[in-house]
Order: sequence, then structure tokens, then C-alpha cells
Amino acid sequence: MGNVIEAAGLVKHYGDVVALDGLDLAVPEGSVLGLLGPNGAGKTTAVRILTTLLVADAGTATVAGVDLWADPVEVRKRIGLSGQYAAVDEYLTGFENLDLIGRLYRLGRRTARTRARELLERFDLEEAGDRPVKGYSGGMRRRLDLAGALVAQPPVLFLDEPTTGLDPRSRTNMWEVIRELLRGGTTLLLTTQYLEEADQLADDIIVIDRGREIAHGTADQLKRQVGGERVELVVESAADLPAAAAILAELADDEVQIDESSRTLTAPVHGGPTALMAALRRLDGEAVAVLDVGLRRPTLDDVFLALTGHATEEVGTHGPDLGVPTPGVDGEGAR
Ligand SMILES: Nc1ncnc2c1ncn2[C@@H]1O[C@H](COP(=O)(O)OP(=O)(O)OP(=O)(O)O)[C@@H](O)[C@H]1O
Ligand SMILES: [Mg+2]
Repeated sequence: MGNVIEAAGLVKHYGDVVALDGLDLAVPEGSVLGLLGPNGAGKTTAVRILTTLLVADAGTATVAGVDLWADPVEVRKRIGLSGQYAAVDEYLTGFENLDLIGRLYRLGRRTARTRARELLERFDLEEAGDRPVKGYSGGMRRRLDLAGALVAQPPVLFLDEPTTGLDPRSRTNMWEVIRELLRGGTTLLLTTQYLEEADQLADDIIVIDRGREIAHGTADQLKRQVGGERVELVVESAADLPAAAAILAELADDEVQIDESSRTLTAPVHGGPTALMAALRRLDGEAVAVLDVGLRRPTLDDVFLALTGHATEEVGTHGPDLGVPTPGVDGEGAR
């Protein structure tokens, strides 16, 4: 099975800002690549290049077997894109938006209408379909935008931060919708700021920072690289710290960290809930009073901190973001 998306040495400068600094990537047919990175990492730049909206300063790329620079028009016919900011017309209804896209793709009047209704149903927008998009929530716009990317049934799909700004329930719904798409064999390149999202959807993850790959692997590999999951425990009395540390040490994969001032112990473990329960049983047996306990999985912040030595928040500030937010949709400013 060949690579449906393949790029090597992509470089893009904006004046002094290096948006992409030699990015390589490959997405085998029917698989999902997650491009994970903080604000300003270069995710949108990569997506815009691979979807022919932007020309790279250097590098090579093919999408669906077509050379991106040689034949962008042909590439465009084979891909779908749902950008970071929902590209829907505020004053049209959901149905009209999809119908319009169908016509732009020259599906023919009847086919365009049928397809629009099908997609509205599929994305749970049947009822809202005849209302102007102006009144849609962020989640509804996102779903409509994704539906728009699917009108022409493209075999290759690009989704730029499909769930940023959505509440947890809408995010879970969106993941379900995307998973269903993948069952149909779509090849997907997805960008996200959430390790959990890449975890849920991606077969392979490239972590980028400042336009460069800083890590590459499956979600499990990345998590292991930053230490995997850990049990975090707060004991009621400082006198219990040594006993608690000894118990955790038996279960821990690595050294137990102790913060005396907050009476907190952190132990890297594997086997998650099982390790947590074993720890609690032992603590209870030794009559150690526990104030708080939890299983903590690495977040994107942990990944970045471990890989780059700086937290995600610091990263977005090194250049202006000139993305154009759609009015009413949560944009950069909201994060
Ligand atoms: N049109 C532009 N003009 C100038 N600089 C730009 C432009 N577009 C992007 N940049 C800069 O290039 C870098 C990469 O931006 P990009 O939008 O690709 O990041 P991103 O990973 O998509 O970030 P976010 O998570 O905020 O969407 C940033 O420093 C950004 O400020
Ligand atoms: Mg972006």
C-alpha cells in the first residue's frame, strides 16, 4: 500500500518567521496522520501547502499520486479540506451551503441536493438544515464545514483542528463522525493541539514545534517518551510520606517524586487503574490517610515540556497569527 500523502523537506518562510523548517511526512492509504503542535507550530501552514492553497519555498510533495507543484488542479479534485476556521456562508442555510458546494463541484442539480440532504442527516443537522448558519453554534458550524469537505466524496481528507473550541460532548461526537468516515477507507491528515485527540484518531503522530518535527510515533510511544501515566497521591500528614513513598516505590516503573511542601507523591506506573487500586489497598492496609489520589496521563503540555523544555503557552507568542477567524466562531483569541 503506497503513501497517499507524501512530502519531503517542506520549507515556508514569512519574512523572518520560519513557519516550516524542513518537514517530512508520509500517510499510507487508509490511515490517519496526526500533526500535533502548539499555536504557531506550523500545522496550518503544512495543511495549506498540501491542499494547494499555499506554495512552499522548498520541498516536494505528492497527494493521491499527483505532484503538488506540477498539477495542483488535479490534486484539488481528489481532496477535501476542513480548515481551522469554518468556511461556511453565514447568510445561507446549512442546506444551501452544501448544495452550493455540490454545484461548484458540478455534481448536477439533483445530485447536489440529494447529497446535501444526506450529509445534513449524517451530521445530525437535519433540523437545523433549513435555518441560516448565522444561528448555528460552534459545534454545528464545525460539523457543517466537515460535511462541506465531504460533498465530493474525496478519498483524501485534511482536517485542521477539527475540534478546537468545541465542548467535550461536541468533541466526542466529532470524533465519532470522523471514525465513521475512516471506516469508509478515507486517508486523513489531521492537525490538533490535543494529544488525546491524536490518541483517539491517529495511527501515527508527528509532533511539530517551530516548523520542525520534534517527535514521531504512535500515541503510546509518545506517552512513554514523556514518562507515561503516573499515580499522584496527596497524604494527609507529612509523617506518612516515607511510608507512602515506600508503597509507591514497589509499584513504580521509575523513581517516586516527593514534594514535601504539598505532601504530594508522584509515581510513574503502567497498567493505570490496576496500579492505582493496588496502591490504595496497600495504603489503606498501612493506615496512611490519603487526601487526594488520581491517575494522571501525560497531556500535550507534558509532551512539549519533555521534548522542548518549554510549555505550550510560551510557543504561540513568537509571531503574529494572521489567520482570519470567521465571525462568531471561536478563534485564536479565545484560546
Ligand atoms: N500569512 C502569514 N504571514 C506571516 N506569518 C504567518 C502567516 N501565516 C502563518 N504565519 C506564522 O507562521 C507560523 C506558523 O503558523 P501556523 O498558522 O502554520 O501555525 P499553527 O500550528 O497552525 O498554529 P495554530 O495552532 O495557532 O493554528 C507562526 O509563527 C505564524 O505566526
Ligand atoms: Mg493553525
